[in-house]
Amino acid sequence: MVDERLQFSDLFSLKNKTALITGGSGGIGLMLAKGMLVNGARVIISSRKKENCDQAIAELLPYGDVTQVVCDVTSASQRSDLVSAVAERFSDLDILINNAGANWGARFEDYPDEGFAKVLDTNLNSVFSLTRDLVPALKRNLRDEEPSRIINIGSMDGIHVPIVQRTSTVAYSASKAALHHMTKVLAVELGPHGITVNAVAPGFFASKMTDYVFEHYRKDIEDDCPLGRIGRSEEIVGVVTYLASRAGAYTNGTVIPVDGGTSVSKGKREWM
Ligand SMILES: NC(=O)c1ccc[n+]([C@@H]2O[C@H](COP(=O)([O-])OP(=O)(O)OC[C@H]3O[C@@H](n4cnc5c(N)ncnc54)[C@H](OP(=O)(O)O)[C@@H]3O)[C@@H](O)[C@H]2O)c1
Repeated sequence: MVDERLQFSDLFSLKNKTALITGGSGGIGLMLAKGMLVNGARVIISSRKKENCDQAIAELLPYGDVTQVVCDVTSASQRSDLVSAVAERFSDLDILINNAGANWGARFEDYPDEGFAKVLDTNLNSVFSLTRDLVPALKRNLRDEEPSRIINIGSMDGIHVPIVQRTSTVAYSASKAALHHMTKVLAVELGPHGITVNAVAPGFFASKMTDYVFEHYRKDIEDDCPLGRIGRSEEIVGVVTYLASRAGAYTNGTVIPVDGGTSVSKGKREWM
């Protein structure tokens, strides 16, 4: 007799789950929104610009039940509106994907305090604040329920020191390393409340954030990756779906690189 709960269609299903994806209007967030919808979740995407959300919703609607909330995650009042909108739309939140992120490129000598603060505020501080404020909607009773999930989108640059960009990425790397560590601390803090917390650390994927580096350093990027290429959307969707589904219910406090091995490689190029 087949145990249906072990079949992939059941084990990795997101059917009837509710998900919020910050920065869900573009790049990796949009890839993840599609993946969640295809696998049965009801999704809210959010980002700063209404026109980006509108465009994403038009693309996502054929895939399932999706709505938008315009929200800059660095604004306390807009975060508060987002939390209220989530409560209005869903009775409980099953999956929070903290994906919105920013970078600031400048030479180290000229790197402005303002740039450092903006990157830390978007990639770290706002993740802390939004997560704290959504914990009441995420709490579960582990005796009879599956845990809810927080999935933070970190970066391989929070694991290794990046060598591709010629501009300083000190703020970005520091923010992502801190996000990875906060993920582990929160896994311990929130586990007893029925919430798992994990991070995914992508390598290079096509997005607005990577347009510039792809244009100028595509060959270096490919040479630095043991697999010789950038990531494909299904490769980030696959890992996040695993973490969000029943298959990932006992995985807690991990940081999973999805970078083709770039973060453990010294690359083919000579060190300059
Ligand atoms: N692509 C990669 O190769 C790569 C590699 C490693 C890690 N990552 C991480 O993956 C995440 C997504 O990056 P991406 O490459 O997909 O970037 P992207 O193409 O620039 O997309 C970023 C998304 O976040 C939104 N956003 C930006 N600032 C925001 C804010 N303050 N509040 C709310 N939404 C905001 C953007 O929409 P609006 O402009 O409308 O706000 C957009 O939807 C980031 O955390 C990034 O650090 C990406």
